[in-house]
Amino acid sequence: MAQAKIRQPIVTVAGHVDHGKTSILDAIRQTKVAEKEAGAITQKISFSIVPKEFIEKKCQALLKKFNISINVPGFLFIDTPGHAAFTNLRQRGGNIADLAILVIDINEGIKEQTRETIEILKKNKTPFFVALNKIDKITGWKSYDKPVFESINLQQEYTISEFHNKALNIITTLSIIGFEADFYWQISDFTKKLALVPCSAKTQEGIDEILIVIAGLAQKYLAKQLALGKEAKGNVLEVVKERGITYYDCILCDGELSKNDLLLIASFEQPIVARIRGLFEALPLNKGFKASDKVTAATGFRVLLTIPESSAVYAGMPFIAFKEEEAEEAVESRKEEMMQLVQDITRTDKTGVIAKAESLGSLEALVKLLRSSGIGVRSMGIGDITKADFVNARAMLQENPLDAVILGFNVGIGEAVEVDKDIKVFTHNIIYRLIEEFLAWREEKRIELERKKLAELVFPAKIKVLRGMVFRQSKPAICGIKVLEGTLKRGVALMNADGERVCSIKSMQSEGKAIEEAKRNDEVAIAMPEITLGRQVKEDEILYTDLSEDDYKKLKQNESLLTATELQALKEIIEIKRRKKLTWGI
Ligand code: GTP
Ligand code: MG
Repeated sequence: MAQAKIRQPIVTVAGHVDHGKTSILDAIRQTKVAEKEAGAITQKISFSIVPKEFIEKKCQALLKKFNISINVPGFLFIDTPGHAAFTNLRQRGGNIADLAILVIDINEGIKEQTRETIEILKKNKTPFFVALNKIDKITGWKSYDKPVFESINLQQEYTISEFHNKALNIITTLSIIGFEADFYWQISDFTKKLALVPCSAKTQEGIDEILIVIAGLAQKYLAKQLALGKEAKGNVLEVVKERGITYYDCILCDGELSKNDLLLIASFEQPIVARIRGLFEALPLNKGFKASDKVTAATGFRVLLTIPESSAVYAGMPFIAFKEEEAEEAVESRKEEMMQLVQDITRTDKTGVIAKAESLGSLEALVKLLRSSGIGVRSMGIGDITKADFVNARAMLQENPLDAVILGFNVGIGEAVEVDKDIKVFTHNIIYRLIEEFLAWREEKRIELERKKLAELVFPAKIKVLRGMVFRQSKPAICGIKVLEGTLKRGVALMNADGERVCSIKSMQSEGKAIEEAKRNDEVAIAMPEITLGRQVKEDEILYTDLSEDDYKKLKQNESLLTATELQALKEIIEIKRRKKLTWGI
């Protein structure tokens, strides 16, 4: 029996922003991608192929030394931005990565996104090892053309000591998270311990050792999983628009894809059936693409597609391929499954904000972060903010102004789109900033709205007219009172203990100054134009805020905003109203 074809393993490079993921790949490929990136930040997931022959030549001595042979056709590396959520390119069976390199700057240690990446790798059961990058920044580090496990011993004592201290810090944190880690040269069983490979993308030290560890792990632990599958499947990585032509850059995770195949691509509502018009295979080491009839996993490729009118293919979406003759049946039977792959991202909530991002991966990150902050997502999409997004957000304005918001992660407002000034728009290319700014605004707005609500409320109060404190009998009557319960506001109507309205408070004073409100136990002077003191209202008399049914309903709705003493005053007022048979449906 012919031996099953082995595909290239997919190796993702993940970790905290700026710890050197792209630079490590540059050091492997001998390229300078990191330098060319806008703002030196990786914004998108990208791939590169590193063939077996290239590694064999580059790492000849080490392969021999460790007795490792490369029994895969090469590796497909995936570079990810420094946001943990991007490590997650989903396909049937979970994440597409066979292996991951977690990059940690040895000088910085384990950061927030390092932890998040570890969580995702753990959840997806992706085997990984750690590249301890930037060892050249350790005080006094001298670079040698030798493997790191040898050159470390050639350093000055203080350098060795700093190196071990920094590594030990990381090892300790990893052990707290649940991983027993050690330098790769001290590990005999890689399934039991997490390997650490100290390296420097700058001096290239340790880079060959990274390749050796990948080759070793692939040889030992991935053999079965790398048998080339029958079904061609993968993910769209990027939608590229060049001179009016739209290409789709994709990765093929498994199987073989021919240019006559059809693609079933997941989307928001229904999967899309696309016909391939042009197929181009990615060349090794980021050297572009060449026209091809067939591509074999794992690899990157570029396609020109014919898609149904009014539908769009979005970055990040998974696809599967079919032969023309089986398409009809296959599409019908696989639709559900394709949708399920993206369902937990694309599911929307009844209320909430509008989320937009440039790819499914970034949208997933955004939606997850919003939901973990307790914020619903009512509508979402990939691409720039559109008129429909504004219309959608406007629908929330009445119900909850805090949700009349559009968040754009790494996207902007589409060109010709008229901005609706009532809708708050947040855009940012750093996801945490975006969420931070939005949450800060939301909190501010919430308080503002609550204050507004409070201002509209007639607060309940119980007061007592103080003996010997009548300053003026009438027109207006002015006397001293004490607030016994609740909050007394200027302007409210007052009733007596029999529930009869007696007057309203025209103004209030405390220590000679006009005031708007008085709290429990405050003693203040009030002016009442409608009465004569001693007649309708007497010394020592107890008075209450006279609430209308509408005031009462509003207070009930906002009960959580009332203090204990206000609730007490309200209780007594209700009692009086009840006695007067004014039950307001209580
Ligand atoms: P994001 O993609 O934005 O998450 O960053 P990244 O992890 O890909 O980091 P990148 O490779 O862009 O490197 C970030 C910075 O660190 C750049 O200025 C690099 O030149 C620098 N850098 C990367 N590796 C090393 C290293 O080994 N030594 C030193 N001294 N600097 C390094
Ligand atoms: Mg990068």
